[in-house]
Amino acid sequence: MSPIQRVTLGQGGPEHDVANEAVRSFIGRRFDGKVAVVTGAGSGIGQAVAHRLAAEGAIVAALDVAVDNLAVTVDAIGANGGTARAYHCDVTSESSVDDTVASLAEQLGAPTVVCNVAGIGGFFNTVDMPLDRWEKILAVNLTGPFLVCRATLPHLLEHGGSIVNVASNTALMGQAYSAAYCASKAGVLMFSKALAAEYLSRGVRVNVVAPGGTDTPLMGAFELPDGADFKALRTMMTPLGFSTPAEIAASVAFIASDESTYTTGAVLSVDGGLTI
Ligand SMILES: NC(=O)c1ccc[n+]([C@@H]2O[C@H](COP(=O)([O-])OP(=O)(O)OC[C@H]3O[C@@H](n4cnc5c(N)ncnc54)[C@H](O)[C@@H]3O)[C@@H](O)[C@H]2O)c1
Repeated sequence: MSPIQRVTLGQGGPEHDVANEAVRSFIGRRFDGKVAVVTGAGSGIGQAVAHRLAAEGAIVAALDVAVDNLAVTVDAIGANGGTARAYHCDVTSESSVDDTVASLAEQLGAPTVVCNVAGIGGFFNTVDMPLDRWEKILAVNLTGPFLVCRATLPHLLEHGGSIVNVASNTALMGQAYSAAYCASKAGVLMFSKALAAEYLSRGVRVNVVAPGGTDTPLMGAFELPDGADFKALRTMMTPLGFSTPAEIAASVAFIASDESTYTTGAVLSVDGGLTI
């Protein structure tokens, strides 16, 4: 396979079909009967994580603000013989997160797997960046995982559990026009390590998956700002092209599962070598 042919942003394609088939061939039953919370489950990586965990036996609480998309996710999981329930939840809202976690714990049982995937982005010239956009990116990408972890942790501490926070290669390397996004993702990384240290001896693991460019609707939302120098973004490119959401989901499932019982506070880069 030519690496370049893999770059099929927003279009899928035969190379992505091959990649998806490869990761699906490893589906096991690592989450049988476990209740898993997945944020951002209406689209892209979160949707793929919901599918993957459900395919491996999890009862998935699928959280998102996009209710129509959530219905698509949950219906597809059901059609494939899995179990998932949709919850409208804004991860930036304390009451929305607390109410949602209380409801899903009552309806599905105590969650023991938590995957914080919801996220937003966008390119800005930092001198022009509106404060409300900065605050929104920080709110969804960083405060969201904090609120979801805070609400679910009592269950994980009681039953044991695993948290996976999705960061980005931009948590590890600077990317032009992405100050808020980089800051939020670097924050997710250290937030996760802090939690891992805090709960190291209490049966809760906390890890980070750091994807590189992944073929999802989010990538389409990144429009270059006025006067942007495309060469400044070359660090976004890898000869391997973009990954598929299912490839990222496979790594999330691995690190969330009991196959990774000795792994906590780790950062699993799934970025086609961007951060070598
Ligand atoms: N796509 C990439 O190239 C890439 C690379 C690195 C990291 N990531 C990260 O992966 C995660 C998923 O990204 P994606 O590419 O699948 O994006 P996506 O846009 O396809 O999906 C993101 C989902 O998050 C939901 N969401 C947004 N705000 C929310 C809120 N306040 N409350 C609840 N849900 C909310 C959206 O409705 C959407 O369904 C993000 O954290 C993103 O930063 C993506």
